[in-house]
Amino acid sequence: MTNSAQPREICILPDAPALNRAAADEFIRCAREAIAARGRFAVALAGGSTPKAVYSLLAGDQATAARRLPWKNIHVFFGDERHVPLTDAESNYRMASESLLSNVPIPLENVHRVMAELDAQTASRRYEEELQDFFHPLSREWPRFDLVLLGMGPDGHTASLFPESPALTENSHLVAANWVEKLSSDRITFTFPVLNAAAEVIFLISGEGKAEMLKDVLQGPDQQKYPCQRVQPVNGKLLWMMDQPAARLL
Ligand code: 6PG
Repeated sequence: MTNSAQPREICILPDAPALNRAAADEFIRCAREAIAARGRFAVALAGGSTPKAVYSLLAGDQATAARRLPWKNIHVFFGDERHVPLTDAESNYRMASESLLSNVPIPLENVHRVMAELDAQTASRRYEEELQDFFHPLSREWPRFDLVLLGMGPDGHTASLFPESPALTENSHLVAANWVEKLSSDRITFTFPVLNAAAEVIFLISGEGKAEMLKDVLQGPDQQKYPCQRVQPVNGKLLWMMDQPAARLL
């Protein structure tokens, strides 16, 4: 695959509602393009709190013909998951299920969750097998998601690739169980090769609490300092979508 990394795009919206609407519209555009081209849309959702409002908008969009999506052609994965049961308030699956998946007609078999109730290593290996079963990547190829949604933590982490965590150097597996010292917990996360194989990656950043880190990430002297800076799709689109409060120092 020739390296045709496109320059990252930065999209600044006036406020969180505008960011959420713009992100939902980009999700819809991406989904329609993938389904028209390949009959299906494979997306990896971000966890945390920022994307919840986007997922709720997408659920509500089902009521509007112009924004309705053919969920039977959509396969939802998770870029990372906390090592908790799916009923736990910390579960990314639970957040996505409550805000989106239980409110759209997506077939059960199209929702590919991490079995985070298992031990972290087993959950990670099982999820890797699930990606392989779905994408059937040729040897030395990486599964290529049509879209990966990501957030950025206050320490510059993304997915569950935290600074100084072991999974930062994982370059052979698709998924890793990652011990996060500062959280004293395991996480299950996509690795950089999977993130960077995506056709499109969108970072969703909202609120002035992210402004300092965002300036360092996008304009700082060291462009390899933080895990989120290492998301550079090899042959895909990289879109940083943010609201004005998050972008105030740019
Ligand atoms: C997670 C996410 C994580 C998140 C960032 C930002 O499981 O928590 O994958 O990478 O995107 O921590 O989280 P907020 O959106 O809550 O700021």
